[in-house]
Amino acid sequence: MNRIFSGMQPTRQLHLGNYLGALKNWVALQKDYECVFCVVDLHAITIDHTPDVLRENIREVTAAYIAAGIDPEKNILFNQSAVPGHAELNWILACHTPLGWLNRMTQFKEKAGKHRDNAVLGLYAYPVLMAADILLYKATHVPVGEDQKQHLELARDIAGAFNRYYGKEDFFPLPEPQIMGEATRIMSLRDGTKKMSKSDESEYSRINLTDDADTIALKFRKAKTDPEPLPETVEDLEKRPEANNLVTIYAALTDSTRQQVLAQHAGSQFSGFKSALVEVAVAKLAPISAEMNRLLADKGEIDRILKRGAERAGAIADQTVAEVKDIVGLLRV
Ligand code: TYM
Repeated sequence: MNRIFSGMQPTRQLHLGNYLGALKNWVALQKDYECVFCVVDLHAITIDHTPDVLRENIREVTAAYIAAGIDPEKNILFNQSAVPGHAELNWILACHTPLGWLNRMTQFKEKAGKHRDNAVLGLYAYPVLMAADILLYKATHVPVGEDQKQHLELARDIAGAFNRYYGKEDFFPLPEPQIMGEATRIMSLRDGTKKMSKSDESEYSRINLTDDADTIALKFRKAKTDPEPLPETVEDLEKRPEANNLVTIYAALTDSTRQQVLAQHAGSQFSGFKSALVEVAVAKLAPISAEMNRLLADKGEIDRILKRGAERAGAIADQTVAEVKDIVGLLRV
């Protein structure tokens, strides 16, 4: 059986990278797969946070999923902390994860920065919790952006290590990453060599899903570019990080390829191309942000959707945790 699991952290607002690299693909995949979509709130407390803001962000990310087209009836949609199995399986998998594997994780090195001794244990152990998220549902496929690739390889390694240790080769499926489409890695609008990220201090580095038309226009107008007109080939485009990023965004927003975008816009100056980009971005994002606002006006309804999702997720999770306890030798009384 094929099952998808994926999630996003409710830290700050979702941005265009989250939408084009992941959420948009989830919307397409829900037709063909049984899907579990999670708002990974336990992951969000691995960095500084404000409790009241976190609570609102959890609702906001839930609203973003639904507004982008995720059907909360057909799929399971819930917040991670509402299903205790995530934390339980996390511990058991942590007891099967060599430190050497965690020491290789580049995201920890980036996030911990120079002050590694002050970084919290949760940030270091983060990829184990992520493996637990996926394996708790025995998910076979995980649609994510390119930046999550290393974490997914670790999840596969942990699944394999658990299966081998207990001689249960097929217990956890080895989850396949689904890194799809043109927009697997959207870059900052200020620096085409840096990933678009929620943690970038410059608001001008990213387009948020809730930005209004004027803000989107302003951010794209200020986006870094080079003085050349757009080239004719993808090969030439790839030598120019900022140009490549804007063309990639345009392609993903219009469900086309970079080659098709260049066929239409080669020779254009950035002023003209950016206007076209603003138009497609606003056309795509304005309905999502309007729907988010409509949904967020009724927080009770969002909480009910999450509660119902947590019950459905919990039924699968409880089953896996019981099986894992039996395998590990933890007495269920
Ligand atoms: P997070 O919250 O950083 O990002 C959510 C999703 O958005 C993708 N993404 C991007 N894609 C393209 N370009 C970008 N600039 C960009 N920035 C982010 C991410 O790849 C991701 O798919 N660890 C995960 C959350 C998580 C998870 C999981 C994901 C926790 N448990 C289990 C899958 C399965 C994270 O921090 O994503």
